[in-house]
Amino acid sequence: MIGVFDSGFGGLTVLKSIVQELPEYDYLYLGDNARVPYGGRSERIVYGFTRQAVDFLFKQGCHLIVIACNTASARALRRIQQEYLPKTHPERRVLGIVRPSVEEVAEGTTSNRVGLLATEMVVASGAYIREINKLNLSIDIFQQACPLLVPIIEAGEQDWEGTEMIVKRYLRELFDQNEGIDTLLLACTHYPILYQIFERHTPSNVTILEQGPIVAKKLKDYLLRHPEIERRLTKSATRVFLTTDISERFDRIARIFYGESIQSKLVSLEPL
Ligand code: DGL
Repeated sequence: MIGVFDSGFGGLTVLKSIVQELPEYDYLYLGDNARVPYGGRSERIVYGFTRQAVDFLFKQGCHLIVIACNTASARALRRIQQEYLPKTHPERRVLGIVRPSVEEVAEGTTSNRVGLLATEMVVASGAYIREINKLNLSIDIFQQACPLLVPIIEAGEQDWEGTEMIVKRYLRELFDQNEGIDTLLLACTHYPILYQIFERHTPSNVTILEQGPIVAKKLKDYLLRHPEIERRLTKSATRVFLTTDISERFDRIARIFYGESIQSKLVSLEPL
């Protein structure tokens, strides 16, 4: 199976694109809704939670895991890949969302100025700046943390008029940093839900990128380049949804993120 992990519902926007691109595989989604949001938590906690989730998905039989959460990818992925995997599961793989997104913006920008909207933790980690510098030193990333957006979306309040005001303010703060930004990356699983609001308040010459389609395309490339991993993945087109909090609420809100109704099962991860 391919495991897809997020701190909550948001990763379903990524899973949706992956399933569209690669429908034949079996997918196991895990949302840690009991402990969402990760976006304002310390590195130690985000690493601990993410490692537990990875361990859980491995035990369920996932050979490949996509961490769809930006916060977990920025704060925990490197350590999982460098320390945890080689010791525990050297033949399995855990991929994140930062690297594919950075490759895509690097190909797309012509002004070499990229805007990034994300959680506080992602901005503080500097993970996007570090990754872009590995690819192309002449590209500048301007970051804006948007701490109010995940709680608003988690509460199902995306249509509230205040949301639009808050988005406008974050965008103004971002474009005040640099007017030459030509590519805007929505670097948080939740933000595609507000895509139309972002679009209304972003200059028309700016390309807005969502991560779902980017990750799906890059995962397809990855599987072509790594037949030894691809061979281990089962292909019965099943989708299983697991959540660490009340599954009825998960199912209701998940519809907004996944685009179709789902039935989830409740599981628990040990307290840290
Ligand atoms: N999934 C998180 C991300 O993409 C957003 C929600 C959270 O803060 O946990 O950064």
